[in-house]
Amino acid sequence: MTTSHQPLATSHLWAGLLACLALALVPLAAAKDSCMECHANMDGTLKAPVTDYANDIHARHGFSCADCHGGDRNADDPEAAMNPAKGFKGHVARTAVPALCARCHSDAALMHRFKPQQRVDQLALYLTSVHGKRLATGDTAVANCVDCHSVHNIREVKDPLSPVYPLKLPETCARCHADAAHMKPYKIATNQFAEYRTSVHWEALSKRGDLSAPNCASCHGNHGAAPPQVASVAEVCGTCHVLFEEMYNKSPHKPVFAAMGGGGCTICHSNHGIRHPDIGMLAGSGAVCAQCHEATSAGGAAAAQMAGLLTKLDTALTQSDAVLNRAHDSGMEVSEPILRQMDGRQAQVKALVAMHEFQVAAVAKPVNEGLAVAAETRRAGEKALQDRDSRRVGLALSLLTIVITMLGLWMAIRSLESKASAVPKPAGR
Ligand code: HEC
Ligand code: HEC
Ligand code: HEC
Ligand code: HEC
Ligand code: HEC
Ligand code: HEC
Ligand code: HEC
Ligand code: HEC
Ligand code: HEC
Repeated sequence: MTTSHQPLATSHLWAGLLACLALALVPLAAAKDSCMECHANMDGTLKAPVTDYANDIHARHGFSCADCHGGDRNADDPEAAMNPAKGFKGHVARTAVPALCARCHSDAALMHRFKPQQRVDQLALYLTSVHGKRLATGDTAVANCVDCHSVHNIREVKDPLSPVYPLKLPETCARCHADAAHMKPYKIATNQFAEYRTSVHWEALSKRGDLSAPNCASCHGNHGAAPPQVASVAEVCGTCHVLFEEMYNKSPHKPVFAAMGGGGCTICHSNHGIRHPDIGMLAGSGAVCAQCHEATSAGGAAAAQMAGLLTKLDTALTQSDAVLNRAHDSGMEVSEPILRQMDGRQAQVKALVAMHEFQVAAVAKPVNEGLAVAAETRRAGEKALQDRDSRRVGLALSLLTIVITMLGLWMAIRSLESKASAVPKPAGR
């Protein structure tokens, strides 16, 4: 056994040495770069790639023009350098771009030399997307790799200046999807970007820098037709809003909405222009429930009852907040009930999640928990205010005693003084 390993180890050693030698030779061979040299001295669109390339991730890894365009970088003569016989491809057709990029990006052995965890499925996924499928039929109006990543200044995806960085990506998609002329042949809406910019998600992303909020690609997938966790984009909400989905899956809506074509959450919340939900979604003139349920139906009655419960809890918590704040502002020690009040707010969050089962009983449970907390904290706040009042009465009483005592003293002194002045002055002065 041990002896049979011997030659193997030696051959590994040789292979290693050869690999080192090869790696050492590559930069030597690449040291000459006639493409760069000559193109740096041109102008306009022939020079631009060289200028842009300074920021490109491929430049940082030692790749150059010929690694994508082919040709001979050792030849100074343009004919020899840009020789199709040496694999030179000058103009890259839009339909040829994915294969060009994938020559390296689908090659696991090559990619993992540079970045061990790098995915190599971009092309495979891309071919499953609407973009990839249409490009395969020769439709060049769809996005290929360079429309999203740019070309000649391709940055790392986590670079904030990259066109696929979360804050930049919506604009990258909008270049086509908000362009009515570009999208005209397809007869699909061009309002996704405008709607998205009004959404809670864009607000969380752009105003609060919350990178866990979704951009276009979080819901639609980077390369594939949908993100890897879901079968269709319509189901994507549950990947982040896990508890809401759990409740929704138990609801009477799940089977009926699925029959209407999936997209459960989006029927009430929409997909691109999602707003902050409020009680107005349940009750009132703009209620979503009223779009399908008559007020007198079981669904309509449930909506009204749930709105009633949620409002009651919110009112109770707001009132005890006010009492606690008054007590706190007048210097009373109420930190404990203020802390306890958080359990009430927690119950409110639970109630909003539970509401997604669309059963009154499911909402009533956390609401009652919350109401008990609100009653308890309100009592504590009122007790503190009473204590404050009785302390004030005590203070007033002692102040009164002091004032009376001082008044007494003052009167005593006055009467002594007046007695003294009544004594006749000695005569002869
Ligand atoms: C001595 C100058 C010179 C060298 C060396 C050179 N080029 Fe060019 N290149 C040009 C000129 C001039 C043009 C535009 C005229 C033309 O189309 O031939 C051009 C055009 C191009 C184009 C645009 C597409 C096309 O075919 O018109 C690409 C891409 C390109 N070169 C890549 C390369 C690459 C890759 C290398 C190195 C292997 C290289 N060039 C070497 C001068 C040069
Ligand atoms: C990572 C791969 C890659 C590298 C590296 C690269 N290019 Fe390109 N280049 C492309 C692709 C892809 C296109 C086609 C872009 C498009 O469709 O808009 C292109 C287009 C061009 C064009 C326009 C060709 C035309 O259609 O007329 C020129 C010129 C060019 N490249 C020159 C260069 C030069 C010079 C370098 C080196 C500084 C370079 N490229 C490095 C991928 C690359
Ligand atoms: C519709 C836009 C779009 C197209 C088309 C596209 N990408 Fe991407 N790509 C992205 C987004 C978005 C990311 C992820 C950015 C992030 O993680 O924040 C990404 C990430 C990557 C990464 C980093 C590793 C990874 O998979 O996350 C590579 C490499 C990459 N793309 C290469 C390609 C190649 C090659 C093609 C063409 C076959 C391509 N992309 C087509 C949008 C696109
Ligand atoms: C000659 C091989 C090669 C070609 C061709 C190539 N790439 Fe790359 N690319 C790499 C290597 C190596 C890296 C660096 C390792 C890494 O960061 O993934 C890289 C990095 C990237 C990254 C950054 C990935 C990250 O994790 O941030 C993107 C995006 C990318 N390439 C897109 C493209 C696109 C788009 C094309 C086609 C226009 C292309 N590449 C063509 C080899 C290549
Ligand atoms: C270069 C232009 C271009 C860019 C950039 C682009 N797209 Fe597209 N996209 C298209 C075209 C054209 C279609 C085909 C429309 C169709 O078939 O209905 C399409 C189709 C789609 C579809 C399928 C629509 C349907 O009919 O169901 C989705 C989803 C989509 N794109 C999302 C995105 C996202 C997300 C981004 C950014 C990460 C993006 N696209 C970037 C041009 C583009
Ligand atoms: C919160 C998730 C989410 C985000 C973020 C999102 N989308 Fe969508 N998008 C959807 C859903 C869900 C659909 C409907 C898909 C279905 O029913 O199959 C959709 C549909 C689409 C369609 C098909 C046409 C249409 O309007 O129905 C396009 C194109 C599209 N989105 C592009 C975008 C672009 C561009 C962005 C970023 C500006 C974006 N989406 C952001 C979830 C999202
Ligand atoms: C990639 C994760 C992710 C996906 C996918 C996602 N969301 Fe969100 N969502 C968030 C984050 C993060 C917030 C902001 C959280 C906050 O405001 O506390 C948010 C906020 C919301 C809000 C507002 C909550 C509030 O308190 O005002 C609603 C409603 C919402 N999302 C619904 C949806 C729907 C419907 C979908 C599917 C079409 C969806 N989300 C897809 C992460 C996601
Ligand atoms: C039948 C309509 C309907 C469906 C379907 C629905 N929701 Fe809601 N959702 C509501 C209503 C109504 C509210 C607001 C209740 C309130 O604020 O009083 C709400 C509130 C929310 C909130 C905000 C909770 C908070 O803390 O303010 C989120 C997040 C949310 N829904 C996510 C989802 C997700 C994810 C799905 C799918 C799994 C979904 N919703 C399905 C009606 C719906
Ligand atoms: C897109 C239409 C639609 C919307 C919007 C909608 N529902 Fe429904 N709902 C249905 C359908 C269809 C059923 C199943 C058939 C039925 O029982 O009426 C149902 C069933 C119910 C049930 C069970 C009724 C029973 O008979 O047991 C309740 C409760 C309910 N919905 C509450 C709500 C509430 C609350 C809202 C608003 C947050 C709402 N629904 C929004 C269509 C809708």
